[in-house]
Amino acid sequence: MTKALEGVKILDFTHVQSGPTCTQILGWFGADVIKVERPGVGDATRKQLVDKPGADSLYFTMLNHNKRSMELNSKNETGKEVLTRLIKECDVLVENFAPGALDRMGFSWERVHEINPRIIMASIKGFGPGKYEDCKVYENVAQCAGGSASTTGFLDGPPLVTGAQIGDSGTGLHLCLGIVTALFQREKTGVGQRVSVAMQDSVLNLARVKMRDQQRLEAGPLKEYSQFGEGIPFGEATPRAGNDSGGGQPGRILKCKGWETDPNAYTYFIIQAAVWEKVCDLIGEPNWKTDTGFATPPERLDKLNQIFERIEQWTMTKTKFEIMDLCNPLDIPVGPILSMKEIAEDEGLYATGTLVKVDHPERGEYISVGCPIKLSASPVEVERSPLLGEHTEEILRDVLKYSDEEIQTISESGAIGEVRKAAE
Ligand SMILES: CC(C)(COP(=O)(O)OP(=O)(O)OC[C@H]1O[C@@H](n2cnc3c(N)ncnc32)[C@H](O)[C@@H]1OP(=O)(O)O)[C@@H](O)C(=O)NCCC(=O)NCCS
Repeated sequence: MTKALEGVKILDFTHVQSGPTCTQILGWFGADVIKVERPGVGDATRKQLVDKPGADSLYFTMLNHNKRSMELNSKNETGKEVLTRLIKECDVLVENFAPGALDRMGFSWERVHEINPRIIMASIKGFGPGKYEDCKVYENVAQCAGGSASTTGFLDGPPLVTGAQIGDSGTGLHLCLGIVTALFQREKTGVGQRVSVAMQDSVLNLARVKMRDQQRLEAGPLKEYSQFGEGIPFGEATPRAGNDSGGGQPGRILKCKGWETDPNAYTYFIIQAAVWEKVCDLIGEPNWKTDTGFATPPERLDKLNQIFERIEQWTMTKTKFEIMDLCNPLDIPVGPILSMKEIAEDEGLYATGTLVKVDHPERGEYISVGCPIKLSASPVEVERSPLLGEHTEEILRDVLKYSDEEIQTISESGAIGEVRKAAE
C-alpha cells in the first residue's frame, strides 16, 4: 500500500523537540525525511537525559523515527554547496533554529526560494514578529507566554506548567498542518511558500477557551469556576481553575479507593446535567433530584464543593476502574487518572499502534508512542531513529547523485565528518 506523502522529500533541519515532532509525523505519513545534523555532534537531544551510556537517548529516539540522518556542516563552503543541492532536491525545508541562525548560514527564505521556487520552508520560532522575536524559547517559556501557565494550577498556588508538551509537540503539530496545507496549495500553483509558527501562538491556540473566559469576565463572575461557589471574587484576568472542567459541565478530580498510598488513585467526575438524576441515585442522595437548590444546573453552581465532597465520599469506596465500570453504563462521564506505568502496560494501545515496541541497535527494545493520527489508506510502520550520519553516504549518492570521487572530495573538505556505512 502506498503512503499518503510518498515521494515528498523533507530537508529536516530540526532539533530538540518541536521541529522533530513535526517531521516525525511527516515520516510516518510516508515522506522521505532527511535529517541534517552537525558532524560529530548531531541533535543535542541524542546525548540528553541519557539512560544507557553510549546509546542515543530515549529523548532522541522517540522523536526521530522514520528519518534518515546525514551529517553536514552547513557553515563549511563545500557543506553549503551540498545543502544547496539538497534544497534543490527537496519539497520542504523544516527548521527550528534560533531566530536568525539560518540567515547567518546564508540560507534566508529569499535565497532558499531562489534556489528552489517550489520548496516550502517551514519554521518554528518562540515568538512571532514583535519585541520578543529574537528570543530563544523552550517548552515552558512558551507555556508561560501563551497563557497556559497563568490559567493552570489552583487559585491559591503559583502558575503551573503542564506535563503535556503543548509548547514543543503542540507547535510541531501546528507546523505539520501548515506544511501539508502548503503542499496542497502547491499542487495548484506550482510555487512554494513560507510557513511560520510561533510557540506562543500555538499555546494560545490551545488555551483558546481561557481567552473566551477572559472576555466572559466582563459580563460577570465565571459561575462554573469553583471560586464562584466559594464566594471568592474574580480579578481582572482569567483565574486558575484547579481541576474544574473547562467546559460548561462541572467536573472535578476526586479521590478513589487507595488514594492514601497510590498517587494516581483518582478519577475525573463530571456532573453532566443530563445524568444528574443517575448521579444522585448512584451516590445515595435521591432527594437532590428534586430538592430546591440542587434540582437544576444553575442552582447547583454555588454548591459545587458540597456536591463533589459528597460524590467523593462515594468514589473513595471504589477503585478508579470500578467507577468506570459503574458509571459508563449510566452515561456518567468519568475518567480514571492513568499513570504512565498503567498506560505503558495497556495492551489495547499496542493493538492500535498508539504504543509500539521498537528495536534499536544501541539500546535494544524500547517503548515508543506511535502515530496518533490513523489514516485508513496510509498505514504507519514505526521505524527506529537513525544513528548519527547513518545515511550520509547513501543520501549523497542516491538522492544528490554525487559520484564516488565527488563524495571523496566532499569528505576531505570536512563538510560531512566521517563517512559511515548504514548500520545493519
Ligand atoms: C531551541 C533553541 C533554544 C536551541 O538553541 P541552541 O542550542 O543555541 O541552537 P541554535 O538553534 O541557536 O543553533 C546553534 C548554532 O548551531 C548552528 N548549526 C546548527 N546545525 C548546524 C550544522 N549542521 N552545521 C553547522 N552549524 C550548525 C546554527 O547555525 C547556530 O549557529 P549560530 O548561532 O552561529 O548562528 C533555539 O534553536 C530556538 O529558540 N529555536 C526556536 C524555538 C524552538 O523550536 N524551541 C523549542 C525547541 S524544543
